[in-house]
Order: sequence, then structure tokens, then C-alpha cells
Amino acid sequence: MTTRDTTPGVDTRSVAFLSRHERFRSVLSTNDIVRSWLIAGTAEVCLAVADVQTAGRGRSGRSWVAPSGAALLLSLGFLPNYLPADRLWRLAAVVSLAMADAAEEVAGLAVGKLRLKWPNDIVVEVAGNGAAAGSGAATESGATTESGAAKAGLRKVAGVLGETEGVGTSDQLAIVGIGINADWRRDQFPAELADSMTSLREVSGGRPIDTTELLDAFLLRLEPRVLALREGHFDVAGWHDRQVTTGRMVRLEGSGGEAEEVRAVGVDGVTGALLVENPAAPGVEREVLAGEVVHVRLAADRDEAESGTSASKRPDVTP
Ligand code: BTN
Repeated sequence: MTTRDTTPGVDTRSVAFLSRHERFRSVLSTNDIVRSWLIAGTAEVCLAVADVQTAGRGRSGRSWVAPSGAALLLSLGFLPNYLPADRLWRLAAVVSLAMADAAEEVAGLAVGKLRLKWPNDIVVEVAGNGAAAGSGAATESGATTESGAAKAGLRKVAGVLGETEGVGTSDQLAIVGIGINADWRRDQFPAELADSMTSLREVSGGRPIDTTELLDAFLLRLEPRVLALREGHFDVAGWHDRQVTTGRMVRLEGSGGEAEEVRAVGVDGVTGALLVENPAAPGVEREVLAGEVVHVRLAADRDEAESGTSASKRPDVTP
């Protein structure tokens, strides 16, 4: 059982596929809220949204912070007896896909502008001049270096944290939390993250982003994806098309600091694995499962990522 801050839920609305939906001003972590609901017997799909988290969690034990009003922070609770244990990853995937679709709509971005960085990050590719690659309009996107020149590379817009209990039993439960940098202004980005993060506001060239509108757009797109999962269907093609790493050299980092550079050749719609090819063995593919790595970077981003924003040097913040 988890605890929450003293602030009670402030807004409960009805959305057809949701069993319970509450919005909070401040909680420790929305993941903990929906876990407690599921354990207490709440049906799927339950949703907790918070303006602020005081103990937000990221992947690999990192924390997740965002100023009030800057991000949409939410968790969804599932009782996925319709998914075998080795397909639970699809819940996080449909959350990412629905959010990418919704965010492009609300931020006025071209379809496909937002990409997925396996396993579930939502990212945008930024050209060296600071514009979102290929947009021509996103003059405010990305952060700048001390000299004023923006670095090219991937900027994280959203992260997803999946947590499970009782996997493989008839009572398995899954919690999928997502935090998306929505109305966060570049001049408010933490300095140590400014080279690795961005927000919908910045990618769209300064357009204000209403998190309530974003939430509504997200739920509209999530519902059919969840109903499809219950029927045994998953949008493999859509998931594949959003991947930013396919065909590119990536650096995979393990929890012990070990790293390797390999070519990503795709993703596996059945296992959820990243498919990679070792340059030393062209044509030979192998699968990398999400639990095996703590970081995936484009190999070209390595120097930038290691200049002050890597997990080892930044253990307490992970937008
Ligand atoms: C990551 O490390 O990229 C995952 C970040 C996930 C953050 C979200 S914010 C809402 C939900 N509650 C949490 O405590 N974490 C997730």
C-alpha cells in the first residue's frame, strides 16, 4: 500500500473505458496511487493524474521531476488477464503510441514528428541549429550550449515507467505511468538536462500546451488501442514505424556500466525486443529485452550524453 500527499483528488470525470479517474494537485507518485486502487479491488482501467509528484519515479531507480503545470503526469492501472506475461510490454507501448499521436495533434506537429526511442521514450530529433529535424518551424526547440549553439541529437519529451505484480498469475496487475513535458519553457529546464530534454511547447515553436486538452486527446486515442489489446490485436506496424533507432548505430548500456555499440535493425512485435546486429557479425540479429539495458542512445549522441547528463552523473533527475 502506498501513501499520498494530503491533497485529495480534485476532479473526477467519466470516460467510457475508465473504471476510475481522479486528478490530484500533489501526490508522491501516480504509479503508487493506481497500484493501491488495483490492490483494493478497483477494476481496470483506472487513471490517476497529478499536477505535481513529490516522489515521482523514472526507470532504473531514477527519480522524475517536473514543475507544476509543466508536464502531464499520469498513471494507468490494468488487470490484463487478456495478455500473457510475455506480452505485458504492449501496455506501455500502447500508452506511448496514444500519447505520441495525441501530442502531435495538440502541439500542431506533423504526423511522425515524435518518435519512440525503444523501449518507450517519446523523443524528437533536433538538428544542429536547434530546430526539430525536418520541421523548419520549430525555432525554439532544443537547448543551447554555453556558446549558444544547439547540439544535434535526440531530446526526450516523455518517459514511461511500467511496473507489474503477480506476473503470470491470474491476478497479474500492471501500472503504466507516463510523464510528458508539455508546457515546460526552455528557460525553465534544469541546466543539467537542457541538452537531453525538450517539451511540446518548445518543439512547436512556443505554442502553449493545455494539459487538459492533451489528456483528453490521449484518452481518446488510448481507448481503441486498449480495446484492441483485449481482442488480441496490437498495432505492430504503427509501433515499428515510430522507432527512431531502426537502421542506426546505438549504444546499449547495462546496469553495471558495460556498454556496446551495435546497429539497431528493428523491433520485434511479438517479444517487444530491440533487434540489433553486431557490426562484427553482419547479418546476424539478436534480441535485446528491455530489462537488459538501462540506457539506449544513438551512438552519435554518446559524447553529448556523457558530458553531464548521463545517469551515472545525474542519478537523481530523469525527464
Ligand atoms: C523514465 O525514466 O523515462 C520513466 C519516467 C516515468 C515518469 C512517470 S510520471 C507519472 C508516473 N509516476 C511516476 O512516479 N512515474 C511515472
